[in-house]
Amino acid sequence: MEIREVAVVGLGTMGAGIAEVFARAGIGVVALEADPEALRHGLGILDASLSRAVSRGRLAASEQADIRARVRPAAAFSEAAAVDLAVEAVPERMEIKRQVFAELDRVCGPDAILATNTSSLSVTSVAACTRHPGRVVGMHFFNPAPVMRLVEVVSTVLSDESVPAAVAELARRLGKVPVSVGDRAGFVANALLLPYLNHAVQLFEAGYASAADIDKAATEGIGLPMGPLGLLDLIGLDTSLSILEVLHAEFGQPRYCPAPLLRRLVAAGWTGRKASRGIYTYADGRVVGGDADVAGATGGVVPDTVTLIGRGDEQEADFASALASAGLSVTRNPAHPSDLVVVVAAEGQPVLPAALAAGRARQAVGVHFPGGVRDGCLAELIRTSLTTDVTMAAAHALAGKLGVSVVQAPDRPGFLVGALLYPHLADAVLMAQQGYASAPDIDTAMTLGCGYPRGPFQLIDAIGAAEVLTGLRAMYIAYGNPGFAPPPLLAEHAAAGIDFAAAGRAAAS
Ligand code: CAA
Repeated sequence: MEIREVAVVGLGTMGAGIAEVFARAGIGVVALEADPEALRHGLGILDASLSRAVSRGRLAASEQADIRARVRPAAAFSEAAAVDLAVEAVPERMEIKRQVFAELDRVCGPDAILATNTSSLSVTSVAACTRHPGRVVGMHFFNPAPVMRLVEVVSTVLSDESVPAAVAELARRLGKVPVSVGDRAGFVANALLLPYLNHAVQLFEAGYASAADIDKAATEGIGLPMGPLGLLDLIGLDTSLSILEVLHAEFGQPRYCPAPLLRRLVAAGWTGRKASRGIYTYADGRVVGGDADVAGATGGVVPDTVTLIGRGDEQEADFASALASAGLSVTRNPAHPSDLVVVVAAEGQPVLPAALAAGRARQAVGVHFPGGVRDGCLAELIRTSLTTDVTMAAAHALAGKLGVSVVQAPDRPGFLVGALLYPHLADAVLMAQQGYASAPDIDTAMTLGCGYPRGPFQLIDAIGAAEVLTGLRAMYIAYGNPGFAPPPLLAEHAAAGIDFAAAGRAAAS
């Protein structure tokens, strides 16, 4: 069926973005918003986004006017009577969604498709309250909708076969990439993203690492476009909390149980960027202020001589060369009265035993390079329970001298990058293992929906399934959290020494 005119119901951040996407593709949009203030605000988002595109030379001013002319603001559902498709983007509360669908069901023609942009609520429940449930599907966009290319097309057991197919076709016409999924809480992307974001809040709340370091670990250590705490502020802490509650109700695992801090921030009205205050504080859309200084992060003296303790692996050799290139003396003799002892840490191995064995645990710090030692790389500086502030300060000063970016982490499994990443990767493997989505579809969802440069399975292949398994096992043993339990599929890949891409090719041949 041809889609010429659509209605977008609810003109919040997502609704405004979705309206822009349709209008840019030449489709007329009835922008339905009953609250005049919300309508004004939503159109403001749309105008700001278009003006930004014009100012960046991505859009001609005449096109901007044409796009804008395609968007017809409306306050009454009756204005949507003639549309071919309605996409609902109202707040994530089932009773509101049901009211909207009852209205759309009443006013729209019998052939119109009714779609919900819900992030996590049951599309089946929404469909079941309408007179024609076969035409109800999920059409889930990602924030910012004009930028992110993924659209999850959610079909239910009640959907007519032609409807998800038509919506997927439309998504392609919009320049998006559709991924077809069944109706399960969080679908693919949110079911993976939200527990990872929640875990980041738990780490922050526990004082495991600073907010800035958590976000830096994700961007510089994993290569993600945004850190989890900054991303939570973008999505909205209230939206994120609602999604987690739905995920927790459906799956019951501790990883979905919202962090207490998340609830408190939402209760305080600190819902993220839209409120200018969430995990971070914003002025004119930019973060202001920042973390209080981490103990031992500043004021250190660069050591002249470093005692290096390692296992003779590549990281140790590369780090030793970097120290030598910076003109520092390196000794491997623990008895040498050097200024600093650096233990080159390995995945799944605590730093403290090596520091104790060296006999100078107070002057010892661990270092771990999640992406190897290279120019501009990220180092995790690992503080054991005996490391002093002076030692930490010397380690930070040393990193500064080497031109290495650092995050500080406690001497716990995964340090910081692994602690964030491994359970996230395990969630993806578990989803594939459960048969909900294939590894390539999961990779597509995370790259196009969340801007990951590589999807979870591509990341596992790059790191090595055995390495991920080692880190995850260490976390599971240390914390006993079932959310860290290594999925059998990961263990199988580690044991077989076969990466996920190769397994896909082998299965297809
Ligand atoms: N609206 C419209 N366009 C926007 C935009 C917005 N809010 N924000 C950025 N853009 C555009 C910019 O105009 C720019 O385009 P041009 O190059 O054509 O000018 C482009 O996006 C890149 O923007 P910037 O250079 O300003 O910033 P960036 O390179 O740091 O990218 C980002 C910004 C695209 C948001 C990037 O950081 C990113 O991909 N972040 C991850 C976002 C993410 O994970 N989204 C999914 C959240 S989960 C979700 O949405 C589902 C849910 O149900 C909760």
